[in-house]
Amino acid sequence: MANEESTKTESVALDDGWKEMFKKSDHIAFYRRHKQNPGVHYCVTLESLALTEKGASLELFETKSQVHLLLQVRVCRESTIRITIDEIHPVKIRYRVPDVLIEDPVYEQLRVERKGEGSVTLSWGLGQHQVWIQETPFSLDVLCVKEVIATLNPNGRTLFETLQDPPRHDSTLNQGDPSGLWRERFGQFVDVKANGPSSVGMDFCLHGFNHVYGIPEHADRLRLKDTSGGEPYRLYNLDVFGYRTNSRLGLYGSVPLLFAHKSDKTLGLFWLNASETLVDVHYHPKDSEEDVAAPVNRSRTPIQTDVHWISESGVIDCFILTGPTPSQVLTQYAQLTGFQAFPPLWSLGYHQCRWNYEDEADVKSVDAGFDHHSIPYDVIWLDIEHTDGKRYFTWDSKHFPNPVALQQHLARKKRKMVVISDPHIKVDPDWSLYCEARDGDHFVKVKDGGVYTGSCWPGDSNYLDFSCPQTRSWYARCYSLNKYKGSTDSLFVWNDMNEPSVFYGPEQTMPKNAVHRGGWEHRDLHNLYGFYQHMATVDGLMTRAGGTERPFVLTRSFFAGSQRLGAVWTGDTESTWDHLKFCIPMLLSISLAGIAFCGADVGGFVGNPEPELLVRWYQAGALQPFFRGHANKSTKRREPWLFGEAVTASIRSAIQQRYCLLPYWYTLFHQAHTSALPPMRPLWVEFPGEQSTFRVDHEYMIGSALLACPVTAPGVKEVMVFLPGIKELWYDIDSAQAFSGDQNLAHPVTLDNVPVFQRGGTVVPRREGNGSCSSDFQKLPLSLTVALDSKGCAEGLLYEDDGHSFHYRDRKTFSLHRFLMKPGSLSCSRFSEEGTFATGSSVQSVLFLGMRRKPSAVTAHVSGVQVPVMFQYGEDQHTLVLGGLGLGVGRDWEIRMQ
Ligand code: NOJ
Repeated sequence: MANEESTKTESVALDDGWKEMFKKSDHIAFYRRHKQNPGVHYCVTLESLALTEKGASLELFETKSQVHLLLQVRVCRESTIRITIDEIHPVKIRYRVPDVLIEDPVYEQLRVERKGEGSVTLSWGLGQHQVWIQETPFSLDVLCVKEVIATLNPNGRTLFETLQDPPRHDSTLNQGDPSGLWRERFGQFVDVKANGPSSVGMDFCLHGFNHVYGIPEHADRLRLKDTSGGEPYRLYNLDVFGYRTNSRLGLYGSVPLLFAHKSDKTLGLFWLNASETLVDVHYHPKDSEEDVAAPVNRSRTPIQTDVHWISESGVIDCFILTGPTPSQVLTQYAQLTGFQAFPPLWSLGYHQCRWNYEDEADVKSVDAGFDHHSIPYDVIWLDIEHTDGKRYFTWDSKHFPNPVALQQHLARKKRKMVVISDPHIKVDPDWSLYCEARDGDHFVKVKDGGVYTGSCWPGDSNYLDFSCPQTRSWYARCYSLNKYKGSTDSLFVWNDMNEPSVFYGPEQTMPKNAVHRGGWEHRDLHNLYGFYQHMATVDGLMTRAGGTERPFVLTRSFFAGSQRLGAVWTGDTESTWDHLKFCIPMLLSISLAGIAFCGADVGGFVGNPEPELLVRWYQAGALQPFFRGHANKSTKRREPWLFGEAVTASIRSAIQQRYCLLPYWYTLFHQAHTSALPPMRPLWVEFPGEQSTFRVDHEYMIGSALLACPVTAPGVKEVMVFLPGIKELWYDIDSAQAFSGDQNLAHPVTLDNVPVFQRGGTVVPRREGNGSCSSDFQKLPLSLTVALDSKGCAEGLLYEDDGHSFHYRDRKTFSLHRFLMKPGSLSCSRFSEEGTFATGSSVQSVLFLGMRRKPSAVTAHVSGVQVPVMFQYGEDQHTLVLGGLGLGVGRDWEIRMQ
């Protein structure tokens, strides 16, 4: 886009300007064109059907224009159906998203099951699933055991704009182009499109479903809203400072993965397209505002959800993940795009950040503050001011003269440092890194071939073209210890502003007609930009450590596949109760989209939280995957000890509880890494058959054992908690009181606690005691909380390894143990024969919840030796506490209760 009038408005601090800064859907020409339904009709030529070992292909043609397209139907791993539509003879190759799928899927051999009048049915494998393709008009049904679960193009809304040569008389280019085919204006910005109209769209009917989720990132509720008469969900990565909640505006990251769920089935719809994408959702029957809370729909109208995807460029490439359970959809998606990177243990501890810690003395004093106030933490972060004039990979020599010594000071205490590294590079011919990037041809270009210059923190900047593999390799090398002066191996990285953020740019980002390597327009790959920077940074840290140490890189912008790189956070929230509340559905939606390591700035980024809000945010953050306090530059200091002893005590307690729970979090992250179930889960993922869970998004499960319901309003003395599961038992972890499932509970809270319930039938391991960081906690003995189900049984896992290297993967140095409670005995044994990690952990105490009878004696049995165990029984709450056990996890043992 050309900045025609070049108005230099301050676009960073937004005030009310933000409303005009970002587009609404009626500003978006390709969206308007699809919605106006230009009367295009596609038919399939059944005679063109060709079957190969890689699937089926058919020709699609548009009746009026006679445009011919190629439809491909392929099936991976029996359960995932991939539908691709592209031009047969394009005037130019269209962009297909590279690098997101972890490999070329292996496809099933398809067969023709039936050929009917104007239709063909294809099947594969055991024939459980089929696709039924209809000739005129084109539609494609996906069947599961003869039942249609999804239809493509049910309402004839498919539109595929084929590329054309530019008009000879450029009247369209110069004057009115109301359809925005070749030229589109937004405010002072004009987007001149090299390829003209290039959008693609398709509608889907999801039969029997009236709950759909996913497609982050939006500051909205978990269940997607019906978009009729309102804005569609926008997937376009944008830097939105102090964003509004209840909004479908695109934020920093995008994952075009949608879930549809009903009691007996979950489906996934993955739309692999990295250009600007809009998604409309229509529920049938439609929700009225009044019945939003009603879990059961009593209407007789057939239930279905129509979903319409529209993208600005690229091809149609969508995957239908047939589940049928939520966890199977999650796994099917991870098999395509990768599993969550396994984080180092320390990164699951607490992170302390602010924009900015001023100098080395400031960092040391904050670090000492944690020790002084007995608050554990693992990582201190430096924002942009630590650099020499916002030149990343450098240090401000006045304030950070000795960064290596500073990192060593922290490392001696087993703590780490994270520094920010943004994708823009200050235009400075006197700076060697800038010159290297320029001379190496590593910057994004403009149409005429010159380097694109935008503006960000350093002023005029060039933007690294991370879509180019050579640029990624060069950038990765910038993190090597000999190149990045002042860095050590305990320094990790934070990628920010990588939507990319461009001050004064259209919607504060890069013009769509900027050019990437290979001649691709930025339009084609906009949503991949942050993903690629993240990839290059991770590669840098991997190479720095010779491939043996797990990297940690936080990114603000993300796309499908970002989960295999590291962590994300929800950007510039406001320090308000509303934002605290919306973080829960946002993080649930990001987790569902595969990115399990996610969090929100504790305290909120913009503004000064009152102490009560700060405490509540710490409590919530301690129960969310990535746990970092952060604050905007203009805010007052808010280290945990600055608000009086009571506030410090509440924050200390929240952080300590997080540290005690690290064995559980770590085990859950290992599960996310291997089976794709995210630690933070919507209730319906754990209770898929229970309608009453489908709209709950103020509480969630941490793994399958803990239900958390953070307090997100001021002055609260009582929280309404929904306990799911008609057959379940739940135990309040503070009082040990038991409650039956399938009820709404008015649960009392103080400023010191938030409702957390342990599900009957589970065992949760915790560290017992205190320490200053995760490494201290790792040495502490374990305590187990065994919550009994109605049959007196329970089980839980404990995963352990060295906490930081890849030896768990390369040398199988890990251990996985199972604690199994049957009536009368609790045992510990290896769950996996594979691992060889010599764990030093031992179980010191066990708390049984829901033990209905006081035992007459308790004995521990290890290697044939029997020892009596001291115990205490609580009549009121039916608790049994065993102490002084010292039972090594590495040896099989059993505790028997008579
Ligand atoms: C924007 C980020 O969202 C915020 O976390 C950071 O502090 C500022 N950029 C400054 O780097």
